Amino acid sequence: MRVLLAGATGTIGSALVPLLLAAGHEVLGLTRSDRGAGRLAAAGAEPVRVGIMDAGELLAALDGREADAVIHQATSITGMPMFHRSLYATDALRDQGTANLLRAAALVGARHFVTQSFYLGYGYRDHGTEPVTEDRPFATLTGHRGMDVHMRSLRANEEQVLGTPGVDGVALRYGMFYGPEPMTRQLADKTRRGLLPVPRPSGVTSPIHIHDAATAAVAALERGRPGQAYNICDDEPVEFADYLSVLAASVGAAPPRAVPAWVLSAVPYMKAFMVDSRIRLSNAKAKRELGWQPVYPSIHEGFGTL
Ligand SMILES: NC(=O)c1ccc[n+]([C@@H]2O[C@H](COP(=O)([O-])OP(=O)(O)OC[C@H]3O[C@@H](n4cnc5c(N)ncnc54)[C@H](OP(=O)(O)O)[C@@H]3O)[C@@H](O)[C@H]2O)c1
Repeated sequence: MRVLLAGATGTIGSALVPLLLAAGHEVLGLTRSDRGAGRLAAAGAEPVRVGIMDAGELLAALDGREADAVIHQATSITGMPMFHRSLYATDALRDQGTANLLRAAALVGARHFVTQSFYLGYGYRDHGTEPVTEDRPFATLTGHRGMDVHMRSLRANEEQVLGTPGVDGVALRYGMFYGPEPMTRQLADKTRRGLLPVPRPSGVTSPIHIHDAATAAVAALERGRPGQAYNICDDEPVEFADYLSVLAASVGAAPPRAVPAWVLSAVPYMKAFMVDSRIRLSNAKAKRELGWQPVYPSIHEGFGTL
């Protein structure tokens, strides 16, 4: 297929471009910068130098081009998100950005559309010990103003992609990315310098190695059932405290010191993410329907790639 890829130069896009090319697809990669265009061309993709937040510019840049599919992996997270505002740019990419990309899909003739979604759309709270499957309510409003900005955008993203007539849409509800990528490097660096305390008690997260996140996007493009969302995570949910301890051990750092969880109240998004959320995501549907399997079944194998 000829694939229009938004976010082609990002953490996941950089892993995805070579996988798509190796699977025999062609890639039209979007980027706003000359540097990004150079990197995409060097990787074997065809760069298109435009952003996705201005519909007029996007459609003008794509005029006369053709594609079979659109993959939306554009996010804008700089550094570890600590406050709700850290996610506003990404919220806009998931809401207005998705709307613009759907117009672009219609213009270039693409029927398939795969979009990046996020597992905490199930809610930043304790989901108990049962695996969370895709039939649970997703992106429901909480009454908390800061949180509901993210919920509205996650909902807008999925509703548009899964519900637009004439579009075969699939949403990937990714767990927490890690691997040889910026956020993990940042955490590893802070751990080495003893700057990353572990909150106790801590929440439970469902990690996904960046390589496996990218292979899931290829599988979703080729075998995703239209109108479906898939959880994409590894096989072993983990307490944040253990995640940070295993990370410290794998980069040769001393075990991180513990701090009471309330200390994180000063950084509300981070507390919601690392303390309040306990979510054991199920990847059974993705394995069953996409024929996808993580190469790194847990952080114990995946941290070896750092
Ligand atoms: N599920 C998760 O855990 C999760 C999800 C997302 C991100 N993250 C983490 O957050 C960190 C930062 O990742 P990131 O993906 O946000 O940043 P990134 O790796 O710098 O990549 C952002 C991508 O989105 C594109 N983009 C941003 N704004 C755009 C716009 N207005 N129009 C078109 N494209 C746009 C960028 O393209 P150009 O700059 O080339 O135009 C780039 O390709 C990483 O560590 C990542 O793992 C985690």
